[in-house]
Amino acid sequence: MKTQYFTATSLDGFIATENDSLDWLFPLGDLNTSSYPKFIADVGALAMGSATYEWIVRNAEQVAAEAGSAWPYTQPAWIFSSRALPIIEGADIRFVNGDVRHAHAEMRAAAGTRNIWVVGGGDLAGQFYDAGLLDELIIQVGSATLGQGKPLFPRRVLSPVLRLVSVHQMGAGMAELRYEVHKGGVRGDA
Ligand SMILES: NC(=O)c1ccc[n+]([C@@H]2O[C@H](COP(=O)([O-])OP(=O)(O)OC[C@H]3O[C@@H](n4cnc5c(N)ncnc54)[C@H](OP(=O)(O)O)[C@@H]3O)[C@@H](O)[C@H]2O)c1
Repeated sequence: MKTQYFTATSLDGFIATENDSLDWLFPLGDLNTSSYPKFIADVGALAMGSATYEWIVRNAEQVAAEAGSAWPYTQPAWIFSSRALPIIEGADIRFVNGDVRHAHAEMRAAAGTRNIWVVGGGDLAGQFYDAGLLDELIIQVGSATLGQGKPLFPRRVLSPVLRLVSVHQMGAGMAELRYEVHKGGVRGDA
């Protein structure tokens, strides 16, 4: 069982524009040519922050057109927020607030032998990293730059750096990079 941060990013390290648009992302590559189909089959629970959840709420029609329903996941999901958020009908979700270690224990119990997907955003993935709970980053790097936006992973990872384990080209618009986190590395402003 692994805890994995699987996401797409611009070349300059942003997963969304500053106003949470993903319109720049979709033309860059087809998710089905990434490791996503195999990846999602092994996911048993997922976590996301409120901005990521609210993007799904705002884009319910687009999500339903592509995924067949307004909530695209069959796995149980933990939504991190300090606020009351709207509930998407039919979604297996629970809202949580605070230390990711508590939610991680619940996700682990729900996932069994399958993996935990940290959907985003970057700081939430960083909170799992800070707690020593993040095992892998699987990142589709797009051939586009945004200049500014929501950061991919706002942490300093040094000594040791992440371990690059695979590179997969997805046409001219994207490359998928898979990294393992060295456990016991230096965290914070080292
Ligand atoms: N490129 C991609 O593949 C990809 C993947 C995922 C997401 N995205 C997009 O990227 C953007 C991510 O937005 P974001 O960087 O703002 O991150 P986010 O994690 O989606 O949302 C951040 C918010 O979640 C809440 N939160 C985070 N940690 C928490 C905790 N431990 N306890 C309670 N609440 C917590 C806080 O808001 P409140 O407390 O105010 O609710 C925080 O401001 C979204 O637009 C999303 O759609 C893109």
